[in-house]
Amino acid sequence: TIKRKTAPEIRARKGGDPVVMLTSYHAHTAALVDRYCDVILVGDSLGNVMHGFETTVPVTLDMMILQGRAVMRGSKEAMVVVDMPFGSYEASKEQAFHSAVRIMKESLCGGVKLEGGVKMAETIRFLTERGVPVMGHIGLTPQSINTLGSFRAQGREESDWAPIEADARAVAEAGAFSVVIEAVAEPLAAKITKDIAIPTIGIGASAACDGQVLVLEDMLGLSPWAPKFVKRFGDLGPGIEAAIRDYASEVRSRAFPGPQHVYGMKAKS
Ligand code: KIV
Ligand code: NA
Repeated sequence: TIKRKTAPEIRARKGGDPVVMLTSYHAHTAALVDRYCDVILVGDSLGNVMHGFETTVPVTLDMMILQGRAVMRGSKEAMVVVDMPFGSYEASKEQAFHSAVRIMKESLCGGVKLEGGVKMAETIRFLTERGVPVMGHIGLTPQSINTLGSFRAQGREESDWAPIEADARAVAEAGAFSVVIEAVAEPLAAKITKDIAIPTIGIGASAACDGQVLVLEDMLGLSPWAPKFVKRFGDLGPGIEAAIRDYASEVRSRAFPGPQHVYGMKAKS
């Protein structure tokens, strides 16, 4: 079997070839993403995409582990990173370690991602020193929606920069192997990328970052709505709808199944 990409290999990409990352939550899309991407993120966006929740807050550790296992089975070369869901790591560094170990043992993934900068730095250090590769996530942090009130781009005024820069530095100095920067104004993303020693992976944070990530269903055109920063590389929604419409119509008209889809009797010997 082919050895997967590792956290140190991703870390070493700082300033080199862009780190290419997409989400996947299931085996068959993981196999496709695996052919072209360095990192597959089993994001807690699965709460929205798979389960129809309005936010990622209801997502559980068991949901993440189940989908992480599916993605590991479907892929073989990419590093698989699983999101730590809301409530599974914030209470203490010990809680975070316990949850991360469950994720790694039960899904066999190569690392975890968690949201938060300065306030999570001690936890990131605790995990990385104990064998858990951690990807940070700063800027817009969707798990905090209920205290933030709304999802807005960050750092669009220079007076807002200092805490976001501090978050980036804290995550990097705590030992994270890379950091997702979500919905951050381009000049700030560029400054952070220049200032910290680990790869920045942007989502709505410009091409200045060391890598990029998108939610697979968003870039495929399968999500009914997607943020401004999403480029639709595909338009699968209408194609899937047309196939379902044709199937329904052929079942109703009895055009499907045809002779080629039917089992006849075996010839008698
Ligand atoms: O959950 C997710 O898909 C993510 C990416 C958007 C970075 O965290
Ligand atoms: Na996420």
